Amino acid sequence: MIGSLALSLLVASGVVAQSVTYQAESATLSGVTVGTSVSGFTGTGYVEGFDEAADSITFTVNSSTSQLYDLKLIYNGPYGDKYTNVVLNNAGGSQVSLPATTAWTTVSAGQVLLNAGSNTIQIQNNWGWYLIDAITLSPAAKRGPHKVTTAPINKKANPDAKALLKYLGSIYGKHILSGQQDQASLDWVTQNVGKTPAILGVDLMDYTESRKSRGASSTDVDKAIAFAKQGGIITFCWHWGAPTGLYDTEDHRWWSGFYTDATDFNIETALADTTNANYTLLMNDIDTIAVELKKLQAAGVPVIWRPLHEAEGAWFWWGAKGPEPCKKLWKILYERLTKKHGLNNLIWEWNSVKTDWYPGSDYVDLVSADTYSQGDHGPISATYNNLLTLANDTKIIAAAEIGSVMEPAQLQAYQADWVYFCVWSGDFISGGTWNSVDFLKSVYSSDYVLTLDEIQGWKNGTSKTV
Ligand SMILES: *[C@@H]1O[C@H](CO)[C@@H](O)[C@H](O)[C@H]1NC(C)=O
Ligand SMILES: *[C@@H]1O[C@H](CO)[C@@H](O)[C@H](O)[C@H]1NC(C)=O
Ligand SMILES: *[C@@H]1O[C@H](CO)[C@@H](O)[C@H](O)[C@H]1NC(C)=O
Ligand SMILES: *[C@@H]1O[C@H](CO)[C@@H](O)[C@H](O)[C@H]1NC(C)=O
Repeated sequence: MIGSLALSLLVASGVVAQSVTYQAESATLSGVTVGTSVSGFTGTGYVEGFDEAADSITFTVNSSTSQLYDLKLIYNGPYGDKYTNVVLNNAGGSQVSLPATTAWTTVSAGQVLLNAGSNTIQIQNNWGWYLIDAITLSPAAKRGPHKVTTAPINKKANPDAKALLKYLGSIYGKHILSGQQDQASLDWVTQNVGKTPAILGVDLMDYTESRKSRGASSTDVDKAIAFAKQGGIITFCWHWGAPTGLYDTEDHRWWSGFYTDATDFNIETALADTTNANYTLLMNDIDTIAVELKKLQAAGVPVIWRPLHEAEGAWFWWGAKGPEPCKKLWKILYERLTKKHGLNNLIWEWNSVKTDWYPGSDYVDLVSADTYSQGDHGPISATYNNLLTLANDTKIIAAAEIGSVMEPAQLQAYQADWVYFCVWSGDFISGGTWNSVDFLKSVYSSDYVLTLDEIQGWKNGTSKTV
């Protein structure tokens, strides 16, 4: 069995170490037990029984210097898709996806910045119901320069969209843009943190036909235009209520009609045949929101555009039937908005991490993920690195929705070069549990974090940070 002794010898002797394995059954176990009945594990067993919130495995690992390591988990996931939490030295940490599998599988858990001397790596329950065989650590290779494209995929992209993607490329890896979902929450940041975010996140939700027809209305487009006039950057998502088939019951009200469990609308059958009435309804919805996006284009506002978000989670109807219909709808959206509607102000932001969901480089300007981990200010480096792999580092990467903000020093130490973060609205920013006001003040005053005042002139290339 290879253990921490082997690692310290390799590092101490200056050898460029290969991966070193630490067996879970030899670590400190809390609320979990060693199992041997699922064959194929390494060492003398694996650890199972993650069923209580406090259950954990704690590995003690040494490093001769302060150094960044790649961390991998060897696990088995017979009970479906799960998440675990990996926490270094009792602080920060990353949520790591453990997709369902009945084979022992190695998955990247991002990176850990070990201190010189003794460190702990703790695997915490999170969703539980997985088997952990071992972890491996290997010194992280220093990453070379990014290879990202900063020309929009849309050949007819207008100067506003081109300027936006170019600006994002100019700060990528050097800074992170601060962002806030919802005008009221952005105003809260200005008033309580003392700085205004560089990005306003807004939603086309209440411009959707199935909501407008039930009395919903929105002023998000006007707010976006006003914020852009102040020199800010806009990102729109679209909580697209299904055009028909909403249950509208006590448990599943019409206003939750973007959720898979609130509608029997079937994306797969709707897209199977372009003469289908439901196909037509989808096209009508796209045409309706095109009217709003055109107002932004006419006002000179480029938009980081994030439709069909969180598709791989399957909790929205557009992800409910797997990757194929969703990718099909993404391409239809792209073709219809650019070609039929002449929308050339959009920067197309994809928002799923898994490879089989990716619509392809020709249809994506930015890749992104949404990550919520309460009170955890870690760099979300596992997800960042998965997105880096997803597009082979050819697309800029964004943290399109977060709960707790990442600590700027950790972002830099881990080379987790998220180009922006956008905190979700309401309690996520102002409730005090996801982010304290003092923590937000430290984030917003960091040189690494760009705020509205610091990005002025980004459109004409006169911003000081370019
Ligand atoms: C790891 O470091 C701790 C404290 O720095 C030390 O007590 C321990 O002996 C080291 N263990 C190994 C295996 O090197
Ligand atoms: C359209 O979707 C509704 C809601 O799911 C469904 O009841 C209806 O059968 C669908 N129509 C067609 C032609 O598939
Ligand atoms: C990334 O590179 C690999 C290997 O070169 C290639 O197979 C894959 O298609 C590329 N993926 C993307 C999204 O470009
Ligand atoms: C560039 O944009 C900034 C901010 O909108 C403006 O103040 C400045 O005058 C512009 N400079 C040029 C050369 O157009």
